[in-house]
Amino acid sequence: MKASITANKKFIIGEIDRRIYGSFIEHLGRAVYGGIYEPSHPNADADGFRTDVIELVKKLNVPIVRYPGGNFVSGYHWEDGTGDRQKRPKRMELAWSAVETNEVGIDEFQAWAKKADTEIMMAVNLGTRGIGDALNCLEYCNGTADTHYANMRRKNGFEEPFGIKVWCLGNEMDADWQIGHKTAEEYGRLAAETARAMKKLDPSIKLVACGSSGRWMKSFGEWELTVLDHAYDAIDYVSLHTYYDNFGDDTPLFLSRCEEMDAFIKETAALCDAAKVKKKSQKTVDLSFDEWNVWYHSRMQDKKIEKWTVAPAQLEDIYTFEDALVVGCMLITLQNNCDRVKMACLAQLVNVIAPIMTENGGKAWAQTIFYPFMYASAYGNGSTLRTVIESESYCVNNRTVPYLASSVIYNTAENEIVVYAINRSLDEDMELSVALENFEGFCLTEHIELYSDDLKAENSGDEERVSPRRVNVASGEAITLKKHSWNMLKFKPLA
Ligand code: AHR
Repeated sequence: MKASITANKKFIIGEIDRRIYGSFIEHLGRAVYGGIYEPSHPNADADGFRTDVIELVKKLNVPIVRYPGGNFVSGYHWEDGTGDRQKRPKRMELAWSAVETNEVGIDEFQAWAKKADTEIMMAVNLGTRGIGDALNCLEYCNGTADTHYANMRRKNGFEEPFGIKVWCLGNEMDADWQIGHKTAEEYGRLAAETARAMKKLDPSIKLVACGSSGRWMKSFGEWELTVLDHAYDAIDYVSLHTYYDNFGDDTPLFLSRCEEMDAFIKETAALCDAAKVKKKSQKTVDLSFDEWNVWYHSRMQDKKIEKWTVAPAQLEDIYTFEDALVVGCMLITLQNNCDRVKMACLAQLVNVIAPIMTENGGKAWAQTIFYPFMYASAYGNGSTLRTVIESESYCVNNRTVPYLASSVIYNTAENEIVVYAINRSLDEDMELSVALENFEGFCLTEHIELYSDDLKAENSGDEERVSPRRVNVASGEAITLKKHSWNMLKFKPLA
């Protein structure tokens, strides 16, 4: 089949904020213990961090990492993870029914973030705690004056503030599974008052209010409007979360789910704009898609996990090739909505629904989903261009879905155009033509492809069945996108 993309230098959706290539480390399963931190591992550094994992994180080039949760944060005492490690309490962690040793806390995580070349997006507990503790935590992390919590940080060995610039006001507070779950009225008031107080303490921070933890939540829409009615002036971003699955083994449907993600983004932006109109505000509230991924492979096995153990193997999805295609489609969706989505976090980073897997005491490796993320983060920088797509389509759930999913990004610094293109057809290769208007002399210089015959192919520590390959590019030849393949195409002016 044939398909085409037309883009024009003058028609720009927006500048990509690199923070859309963020990720997430929660105190959950083996994300922290056995993931980023394993002092007994042969590759551990002096602080106990796995250097093999840091190397893989650096390959993903993640500009921001959300921490410490997730559902975990809604019962968390941040100060448990500070100071003398011998004195840190072990706690029953109620969100995931595990034991939290508190061996790692913000003292250690900020050091890890530096080693991994990333910033922290810190979440405060608005489940079992409130304004006071959010302020104490902020003062501990960012305080510069001669005051109690800033001095506590200094006493713990950190003279310089951690300087954390982005803070989440709780996590998924709309959800009944959340500890301290709230009504929109309750949360809206709390978020607004917490935000105002936190900005008095540190006016340089940016704040994310909880939006809906899924488009399917009954309260979606009403929740955002109520929360924003209270908090619009005090916050900077509204969050969105989404996870997709293929429980029904319906791959065409699975590959189309990013269209729902696109609608979710546009609907949430519209809700923010409705609140803006109502408030007669000059300010625009943008979006933080701070949890997104495929999540389902581990759901059944997780039900059998013994409770109240340290770092159980929870949410350890082993990803297939088709999951990588879905993740690729979701990244394209984020890029195409870069005018409103300013931050996003692939949930999560290591072991827990993650692109990076480890064995305790053993190897670390890249899952299938690692690769579309790595190439998006490395080369998907600059301005996303508006496109006209011509592609045959298919029908799922009364929805028309083009076989071609794509984004076109113009990187002025590199003077190159990067096209991400996924052929969603399970049967037919696609002959793609790309028309780049007002880009004199730009030619295809690079074609990277992720493909497997087997949609269910997985990677493991012993075998990498899914990895990118370079396709030969010959001038004048048509671009072929194999059936069910992910592709990155680079265009540059001829020298
Ligand atoms: O990422 C896993 C969990 O999914 C997070 O803890 C929670 O916020 C969401 O429901």
